Amino acid sequence: MKNTRIETIADMVKEGMVVADIGTDHALLPILLVQNNKSNKVYACDIAEGPLASAKANIEKYHYSSLIQTILSNGFEHVPADSEVAVIAGMGYLTACGILDAAMHRLPSFKQIILEINRDPDEMRKWISSHNFTIVEERYVHERNHDYVIMSFTCEYHPSYTEEEILLGPVLMQKNEDDYIAYCQKQYEKYKTILERSSGRSDASIQKKFLIFKEFLKQ
Ligand SMILES: C[S@@+](CC[C@H](N)C(=O)[O-])C[C@H]1O[C@@H](n2cnc3c(N)ncnc32)[C@H](O)[C@@H]1O
Repeated sequence: MKNTRIETIADMVKEGMVVADIGTDHALLPILLVQNNKSNKVYACDIAEGPLASAKANIEKYHYSSLIQTILSNGFEHVPADSEVAVIAGMGYLTACGILDAAMHRLPSFKQIILEINRDPDEMRKWISSHNFTIVEERYVHERNHDYVIMSFTCEYHPSYTEEEILLGPVLMQKNEDDYIAYCQKQYEKYKTILERSSGRSDASIQKKFLIFKEFLKQ
């Protein structure tokens, strides 16, 4: 089955890098990176034996065992030092943040860190902003009724992002893409409904989000 989310992540990875896929599960991303000639050295890492076994079986099926190495690792713990790109995808925000927080000293050695969390991309941007890191690229994917935001960042200094940039995405808000505008419209409607139903008792952050989407969409 086509997997646009994974294809988009693979597309965002810089070419010719050593890549560490943290929480690889089935190793779909490492396999795609090798198939697309994006990388010829990938570490497929996972905290659990079960997913790692399925990663290994998939890698062997494609005869990529010499190019993709499976590693049992909690976050970055056993990720080799020559890794240049890290990917953390398909996890919740708290898990992703826990992994990044535990490896803070190592993050500057990466040329690119790509994140795709299950929901609330603004929480991820807030984390990036709180460390004055730089969001370099963002892509939005709508697939099988799910909204995915994929972002890449580096540890280069960036002043804190504004509330608008955190909610809308500093890169996505400049792209003016129809599907992302449609996503923002859905968010706007969601917050509008919450506000209407709460008849003024919603907290200030809901109000703020509603107003940011409203202004962005010029409603
Ligand atoms: C839902 S899968 C996502 C798989 C793939 N990255 C994707 O985007 O489709 C999440 C994987 O992350 C792994 N995981 C969770 N916490 C982890 C951690 N701290 N370090 C490494 N892997 C972790 C889980 O074992 C699971 O295989």
